[in-house]
Amino acid sequence: MHALELEIARQCKALGEACRLFHGRGHRFPGYEDLLIDWFEPVVLITLYQDRSSSWLKQLVVYLTGQISGVKAVILQQRFLPHSPSIILDGCLPEKVHAHEMGLKYRLVLNNSQNIGFFPDAAVVRSLLRECCEGKKVLNLFAYSCSFSVAALAGGARQVVNVDMSKNALALGKLNHEINGIDSRAVSFLGLEIFRSFSRLKKLSPFDLIVCDPPAEQGKSFLASRDWPKLVKKLPLLLKTGGEIITCTSSPHVSPRYIQGLFQVHCPQAELLERLRSGERFPEVDDDKGLNVLRYRMRHRED
Ligand SMILES: C[S@@+](CC[C@H](N)C(=O)[O-])C[C@H]1O[C@@H](n2cnc3c(N)ncnc32)[C@H](O)[C@@H]1O
Repeated sequence: MHALELEIARQCKALGEACRLFHGRGHRFPGYEDLLIDWFEPVVLITLYQDRSSSWLKQLVVYLTGQISGVKAVILQQRFLPHSPSIILDGCLPEKVHAHEMGLKYRLVLNNSQNIGFFPDAAVVRSLLRECCEGKKVLNLFAYSCSFSVAALAGGARQVVNVDMSKNALALGKLNHEINGIDSRAVSFLGLEIFRSFSRLKKLSPFDLIVCDPPAEQGKSFLASRDWPKLVKKLPLLLKTGGEIITCTSSPHVSPRYIQGLFQVHCPQAELLERLRSGERFPEVDDDKGLNVLRYRMRHRED
């Protein structure tokens, strides 16, 4: 436990309201590749991709509750079991739990669902959107619970169109706007399969900014090798000249170089403005792994 305890203690020194306390999936801590720990005040969420003994878990819970004051519950999400069931290891789960970030809040779904409604590693995208969306019309593709939309609107976006084929995710997204007091007239939620809906999206265009965060792979709905080229070819058609596309990838099989190559071939008028990573709370051995964010701008003709 020594390396694990040292890293948790290090992260707890600057405890935010919502933050990762241990990122074993980045392969920086040998023997702990199966483990993630997140703090969503007042709840600790442990995610395990492999089974571990109950005595090991007990020791971890004692350590965590000793490091963090005010813990109301410690939850374990068992990703190694079908449907990733969650169990309470300690305390009592409050009725409503939120991830608090930069003065905004996002409702979490901590009972028995693999996706909890919020991706902590995407804080870097929410922060970017908050900074760069003033007055903009934004298209949020693969919106899930719409945290990017909440951040963009908090940053002054004029309008956000959220698109996701999961109506349940969009319902959570709608709630996330309500609990942050965001004017519902500025936002829409379209429950659509994106690849069958380009003509509908074209009618809503042009957008100033498109943020595109598809899953790594998802059955027949998203296949990286088939669908990323389509996105890079088609998204520029929905943009104003000078508009921006922000792509997010976090699949071990889709490197940022692959996405850059697609832009070079299919959209050479796009200029790469920056590449962003999730930051030091998400250490990765391989820089291509974990979340990679690319920010492109469509050049004006005279550029
Ligand atoms: C990685 S999540 C997006 C996370 C989100 N940007 C956030 O930070 O909360 C991927 C989403 O893509 C949606 N999705 C996958 N394939 C899709 C498709 N072909 N059309 C529409 N939505 C799709 C899933 O329903 C899921 O909500």
